[in-house]
Amino acid sequence: MGESWVPDLSETAGAKYLAIADAIGAAVESGRLRAGDRLPPQRDLAARLGIDLTTVTKGYEQARGRGLIGARGRAGSFVLPQAAIAAGPPPLDTGMNMPPEVAGGSLLAAWERTASALLRAPGAGGRLHYVPAGGRASDRAAGAAIFAGLGLDCPIDEVIVTAGAQNALHAIVAATLKPGDVVACGAHIYSVFLQLARKAGLKLAPLAAMEADALDALCRTTKVAALYVVPTNDNPTTATLDAGQRRALAEVARRHGVRIIEDDAYGQLSERTIAPLTSFAPELGTYVASCSKILSPALRVAHVRAPSVREALALAAEVHRSCVMAPPLDAALVTRWLEDGSYDRITAETRTEAAARQAIAAEILPAGRYAAHPCGYHLWVPLPAGSDQARVAEALRGAGVTAIPADAFAAGEGGGAALRVSLGGAITREALARGLTVLEMELAG
Ligand SMILES: Cc1ncc(COP(=O)(O)O)c(C=O)c1O
Repeated sequence: MGESWVPDLSETAGAKYLAIADAIGAAVESGRLRAGDRLPPQRDLAARLGIDLTTVTKGYEQARGRGLIGARGRAGSFVLPQAAIAAGPPPLDTGMNMPPEVAGGSLLAAWERTASALLRAPGAGGRLHYVPAGGRASDRAAGAAIFAGLGLDCPIDEVIVTAGAQNALHAIVAATLKPGDVVACGAHIYSVFLQLARKAGLKLAPLAAMEADALDALCRTTKVAALYVVPTNDNPTTATLDAGQRRALAEVARRHGVRIIEDDAYGQLSERTIAPLTSFAPELGTYVASCSKILSPALRVAHVRAPSVREALALAAEVHRSCVMAPPLDAALVTRWLEDGSYDRITAETRTEAAARQAIAAEILPAGRYAAHPCGYHLWVPLPAGSDQARVAEALRGAGVTAIPADAFAAGEGGGAALRVSLGGAITREALARGLTVLEMELAG
């Protein structure tokens, strides 16, 4: 039955492979394709439709990603039972670079216990109100405690709570920069900051390397308003600046009066943290520590340290303009976890799982062919010149591992082919090993 099915692509305006996946979905919904039906072999379908085999392969991969069909080796692709379809696609999409899900970890239990305790406590109704601009004093104090642990001492009036690091970056750009301002950054940077900077009309000035000399050389010819830096496990390059490099960059920033936007989303990955750049130039640095990468991205909480109380208030006003406040229950939960030790326990569990996944990568991939942080959730994998990044990314996606081509992160023109490969999320170690074997084969050519 399924083998004779041919989608009608005559009305398709967009990408054909997406239309194939859409058509499979529609056929399943209408009952034209039933659970267990075998789909036409990819080569046959390509011939019948008069399109490339790779387009059909991508279409089937999409349908597999949507949880509509499954593959049984050489036997081909089959429609999955309704129950599996209703359950949604397999939870393998790790594209957002999130912490690894720890099987049997304490995150869910701690979340349930603490949320319930917060809502049962006397006066809990107050938890459901608006909070003062910048966050409750107790949550800002928690932020100051996190910063002190990292070697950045500050009064709590310089600390605000935001709805994650992304919200903080929006607030910083809105409060401190204007269109046309030059922002020095790496050659490849966190893609959502890239989009934010472009939208805000900032001029990104990618440095050849995130080094003091490179920043100094730029500042000698150009008025640089700010430096955007991810000092630990840079996204996507995974580079971590050591204490000397941080100090040297901060000194150059100070010499030229350059603001520092220090996005340390990954600053607490390791147990042994490194003092922030901001600790070397406190009057210039705005430091952002998010909970997304160490606890969970579903906790929309980041703590931000501004260079002055005045700037903290300006940032708080921007947060109010964009989303009013960080989710108060989430912020209270993080504060409680800092007090009761859950914060340290959960981050330690995450570290252990991340290190195990990095060990799998180290076993499968040739040394020297990729960069990684020992407890990080992504790899940075340069590809041989002329490689088709999108094709390799697609091959990995088919194997359940998300890879994003370097273009998505490029702050300037050009740059070689590379992929950011994510190891986080719900993927099992076995599935990860399979996916990384596909990468190893691609690298071997
Ligand atoms: C460098 C960097 N900054 C900020 C963020 C956004 O974090 P949040 O979830 O706290 O908004 C990410 C997420 O991928 C990131 O990699």
